[in-house]
Order: sequence, then C-alpha cells, then structure tokens
Amino acid sequence: MTTVKTLRECIKEAQDRGVAIGHFNISNLEAFHAIYNAAKKLNVPVIIGLSEGEEQFFGKNEAVALIKAIREKTNFPIFLNADHHYSFETVTASILAGFDSVIFDGAQLGFDENVKITKACVEFARAFMKESHKDILVEAELGYIGSGSNIKDTIPEGAGIKTKPEDARKFVELTGIDMLAPSVGSIHGLIKSGKPHIDGELVAEIKKETGIPLVLHGGSGLSDEDFTNAIKAGISIVHINTEIRVAYDEALKKSLLDNPNEVVPYKILQPAVDAIEKIVYERLKLFNGMQ
Ligand code: G3H
Ligand code: ZN
Repeated sequence: MTTVKTLRECIKEAQDRGVAIGHFNISNLEAFHAIYNAAKKLNVPVIIGLSEGEEQFFGKNEAVALIKAIREKTNFPIFLNADHHYSFETVTASILAGFDSVIFDGAQLGFDENVKITKACVEFARAFMKESHKDILVEAELGYIGSGSNIKDTIPEGAGIKTKPEDARKFVELTGIDMLAPSVGSIHGLIKSGKPHIDGELVAEIKKETGIPLVLHGGSGLSDEDFTNAIKAGISIVHINTEIRVAYDEALKKSLLDNPNEVVPYKILQPAVDAIEKIVYERLKLFNGMQ
C-alpha cells in the first residue's frame, strides 16, 4: 500500500519542479467538493484553508475528520491549513485538533511581538511533533497586506508596505518557522480601484535571504503573469479566497432567481459548486505549469 505524501514532501517537490501548490479557503461543504473535484481532475496536491471565522462556521473537528477520511481512503494529497490565526491559543488549538499546517498572523504586530508569539507557536508545534510523531508546518506573516477576503474600494490604510529581505532573514532566524508569507505586492481581497502587482525581484531576494518556502497571500485579482512570475521567483504556495467566494455568491443568487420554485438544496447549490470548481481548476493548472 502506498502512503500519502506529507505536506512538507509536497512542498519540497513543488520547489524542485518550480511549481506552486494551490491553497483555497472554504466555509462549507460545497466549496470543499468543488476544490477537491478540481484537484482530483488534475491529480495535483491541494490545501484547504480555514480562517478562524471559516473554522467556526464549518467546525474544526469536522474539517479534520473530513480530510483525514479522504486521505486514509484514497491517499490523495489534500491538506488542511489553519489560515490566519491571530493568537497562540487558536494556533495551538489547531495543532492539537490535527491540522497539517498553521499560520500565526502577527502581521499587524510590531516585529518583536510578532517574533515572540510566532516563536512560541513553533516551539509548541515542535514539542507536539515529537510526542505525536505527526508533521506540522508553521507559517508566519511579515508585512501587512490588509484583512479579509472581500471586495474593497481601495487598498486599506497601512497595507501593502513591502517586506524587507533582511527583516525576513532575521525573522526566520529568530522564529524557526517552516514557511513565510511576506508582503510582496498583493493585497487581501478584490480591490475595485485595481489590484497591485507582484514584485518578482523582491520575492527572489526574500527567497535567497531566508531559504525557506514562501507563501503568496491575497491571490484574488492577480494576473496569470503575476502568478507565473511569483512562482518562478520562489513562491511555493498560493492562497485564493475572494474570487471563489464571489463566484459562489453570484452563482447561488442566479440559481435562486432562475428557479424560484426549486426547494432541493443539491439542485439549488450545484451551480455554485460548479462555479468554484471552474476557477480552482484554472488556477491549479496555472500554478502547476499545466497551461
Ligand atoms: O489566506 C487567504 C488568502 O490570502 C486569500 O486572499 O482573498 O485575496 O484571494 P484573496
Ligand atoms: Zn491570506
């Protein structure tokens, strides 16, 4: 029997091949099915992300049980990430619950405070790994790129200041994290007044300084070229959320309007699943160099 690859192994493989793993957020089972379907069709690894709010709505233990059941039954490389967790308590609760990776988001904290809490999360994860023999990856954020996967009029105040490569190196050295999410030009959400571009040169410099896998957040609204440049420069995971939220919302509203007498949930919701799957399929193809 073949065993499923770990997330760490999949990231290493992505780095070696110069591709990136897609990370997509979910709030419900419809989005989960859509993402999993797309990844299965392309036979590529995928990460399912749940922020603190998404996790509360979906259920932490339910999400862990779902991913575990699929991995055990099919060996498919699908992983669960505790996305944007804002405290030591919520990060460690996700580690204990069985997530494959966790993100402590201290992007809005001062450098020293961010280092302090991130380091405590890393130490907790390492101790847990020793005890449980499970692998956990810890990611942290350096540089604020705005909050919330939603539609914004403009770039939020204070967001988008790019991460300095020497700060990134210091941060990685002091914390011992496995992966870093720097600010390299993207902003969380869809910006009505235009989406900024990715600074590929900066990605390459940060990659050189830190030597660890880099994660690109705020993927919605970026161009194909932005993604390919970012991946070429050293991004190993790309996060997308707002685009699939919008697709779900639009398809669901249309489905309800077009079929006012329909009461069967799986019929009402199917177009919303299809809409998410279409986006995820295209993004996964791009991230995995299959265009
Ligand atoms: O962690 C989630 C992502 O960074 C999503 O960003 O909503 O701009 O796609 P996005
Ligand atoms: Zn993010």
